[in-house]
Amino acid sequence: MKLTKTSIKGMFQVKSNGKSRLVTHNKVPGNSVYGEQLLSINGEEYRVWDPYRSKFAAAFLSGMTKLPQIKEKRILYLGVSTGTTASHFSDILNNGILFGIEFSPKVMRRFFRLAEQRTNLIPILADARRPEEYSPFVYEVDLIYQDIAQPDQATIFGRNALEFLKSGGLGFLAIKSQSIDVVLKPDEIFSKQMAVLEQEFEFKIQEYQSIDAFEKKHAVIIIRKP
Ligand SMILES: C[S@@+](CC[C@H](N)C(=O)[O-])C[C@H]1O[C@@H](n2cnc3c(N)ncnc32)[C@H](O)[C@@H]1O
Repeated sequence: MKLTKTSIKGMFQVKSNGKSRLVTHNKVPGNSVYGEQLLSINGEEYRVWDPYRSKFAAAFLSGMTKLPQIKEKRILYLGVSTGTTASHFSDILNNGILFGIEFSPKVMRRFFRLAEQRTNLIPILADARRPEEYSPFVYEVDLIYQDIAQPDQATIFGRNALEFLKSGGLGFLAIKSQSIDVVLKPDEIFSKQMAVLEQEFEFKIQEYQSIDAFEKKHAVIIIRKP
């Protein structure tokens, strides 16, 4: 198996039997987080990063070129769920930290257990609509990653970015058109969400990409806070 670097530090590509897969170096050897395959390469263990389960991997394989680096970052993750994507960020993070916000107690229990093994993950049971409730526990971050299926996704992101994102910081927003409007065409919905981000919150759109090949009716938007 051949391991090659990608443009995202700490995310590698492995080629074997004509198949190419994304992987991260496993910080907790022997542990698979969501049933992903573990690969031994040159005596080290790597976890396969499934693009059908994680929108960051889907965005990378869909050709996005302005995805944020993860390695040294302080990250606020809205809608962290059981930690599928966050576990790969945890593998990559070096000196960084990830605050994971999730409002479902049942889901959060699993993320809490993950955070016991991975000390760079900080679980916070809270509603992302109410940043004031977790502001005592979160400090200024370099990156906000949001993956929540809510009708007011852009507004939730904007309020959190005003409160926690540093000037010049980046945002990764996964948008699910179906949770905003089932009648309008996905492209119209994505344009409206971008207009909210640009006009109401004055963020700069860096890149926009459909990730339909992996998640139907989803797109990813990368923004920068001026
Ligand atoms: C699509 S899943 C996230 C999957 C995750 N990003 C990953 O890749 O591993 C969306 C999650 O957002 C959570 N969520 C939805 N609305 C929320 C809100 N207002 N505040 C906090 N969490 C929310 C849901 O409970 C769910 O766990």
